[in-house]
Amino acid sequence: MDHPPPGRFRTIEDFRAHWCGLDEERELDCDLEIRAGGPMADPLVVTGADGGERTIGNRFTVHPMEGWDGTPEGGPTDDTLRRWRRFGESGAKLIWGGEAYAVQPDGRANPNQLHLNPDPSVDNAANLDRLLSTLRAAHLEHHGSTDDLLVGLQLTHSGRFSRPDGPSMIPRIAELNPVLSMKYGLDASVHVLTDGELREISDRMVEAACLAADVGFDFVDVKCCHGYLLHELLGAHTRSGDHGGCFENRTRLFRDTVKAIRSERPGLMIGCRVSITDTYPMFRREGDAIGHPKDVAENTPWRHGFGVNAMDPTLSDFTESQAFLELCRDLGIFMANLTIGSPYYCPHLQRPAAYPPSDGYLPPRDPLCEVQRHLKTVRTIKALVPGLPLVGSGWSYLQQWIPFIAQHEIRSGMVDSVGLGRSMLSYPTMPADVIAGRELQRKFLCRTFSDCTTAPRNGMISGCYPLDEHYKKLPQAVELKVLRKEASRA
Ligand SMILES: Cc1cc2nc3c(=O)[nH]c(=O)nc-3n(C[C@H](O)[C@H](O)[C@H](O)COP(=O)(O)O)c2cc1C
Repeated sequence: MDHPPPGRFRTIEDFRAHWCGLDEERELDCDLEIRAGGPMADPLVVTGADGGERTIGNRFTVHPMEGWDGTPEGGPTDDTLRRWRRFGESGAKLIWGGEAYAVQPDGRANPNQLHLNPDPSVDNAANLDRLLSTLRAAHLEHHGSTDDLLVGLQLTHSGRFSRPDGPSMIPRIAELNPVLSMKYGLDASVHVLTDGELREISDRMVEAACLAADVGFDFVDVKCCHGYLLHELLGAHTRSGDHGGCFENRTRLFRDTVKAIRSERPGLMIGCRVSITDTYPMFRREGDAIGHPKDVAENTPWRHGFGVNAMDPTLSDFTESQAFLELCRDLGIFMANLTIGSPYYCPHLQRPAAYPPSDGYLPPRDPLCEVQRHLKTVRTIKALVPGLPLVGSGWSYLQQWIPFIAQHEIRSGMVDSVGLGRSMLSYPTMPADVIAGRELQRKFLCRTFSDCTTAPRNGMISGCYPLDEHYKKLPQAVELKVLRKEASRA
């Protein structure tokens, strides 16, 4: 099936006609002119940990982007520092967590993930300090001031997607999920974390948050997204005990962690990146390789998702999403970064792409429909939970049309900050170019080849192999081209 990628449209009028034609609800039919004095340069005022105001200098956020390139001890390599430096150079004034930082070794998504190492001979603070100071110095050099720059650290435990020792998963799950067990070949012996183990993980999150505060990060993100542990817990309807079943139990670990961080480091701001809605796991269909929700009818009502309609788990139900974000607001979370689903079981939705990753499938519909789902989700939440500033996700697929739609969504108050992920690997200075009114450098626009996802799935470091000279010249770039072709074949 040919879905014309955004780069194929020559004019904004052509793109707009296609974009609006895909929008069945006619919600996004909008004025896509770029106007002078664009709102992307507007500051955003958020509430600091002391209740006072903190100003974020503009409306671009760099999403956390992991590179699978840390040292075995959990610190940064030159590649990691290069990425953080480029984030600092980007011009975005909100750096949402840099990348996922595992709070204990068994919770790493790969052996090279940055992490809090319990070995007393490892200087975790020095490792974090190098990342933060590299980013801040680059920002200061290129943008003159860091007074209105907010930098966070994203705290994670990878839960069912833990791969701390190599290519095989060593899952630490919140609850048994028959469909994910089928997808990943797990049997009943898989390790379900006990309530005691969950409390220990929470303690490690608090320890990592204290370290981040002491090093000088402005905030930590208590990560609840993408199928990792705290996200899985939000949908752990079938788990028994203190952390499963009712909404209060499923949000307990998050609540307790946030309260404990607040009590230990009252001056530290806390954010939350959350998969605010989800979908039933997708499978590659025999024959045409298109993604489909295999056996969904047999597994309905669906008892495992968060923010999904139990009777049709391909659709959203925002009842608990709203309750969770109201809880966030009550807990003093300064901002929520909204994302959808997981890069493992629904990559077409979590990161809409023209080419699937090697463990993915062909997109079931035009990927722009998934971008629209991200935008509409944020719009819905904005209306349901006023007063909580929001970052949106899933923008990179839009390529050269990002500034048009970004201006519209910000100007009309549909989102507070536009978060960019993959684009920040290929074209980190896009925010600075947009804000300065410079023409976009089209050769750097992310074309969503998915090599940055396929690489780590196959044990390689991540980066933009097709467009960034630093990775282009590596031998892995050739291997990735072959994997890309195979993944795109029906
Ligand atoms: C290589 C790679 C690494 C990522 N690492 C993280 C991460 O550490 N934490 C996180 O919350 N999301 C991570 N993501 C997801 C992105 O932050 C973002 O949500 C996603 O790419 C969709 O946004 P985009 O369309 O702008 O790329 C990663 C994505 C990619 C492709």
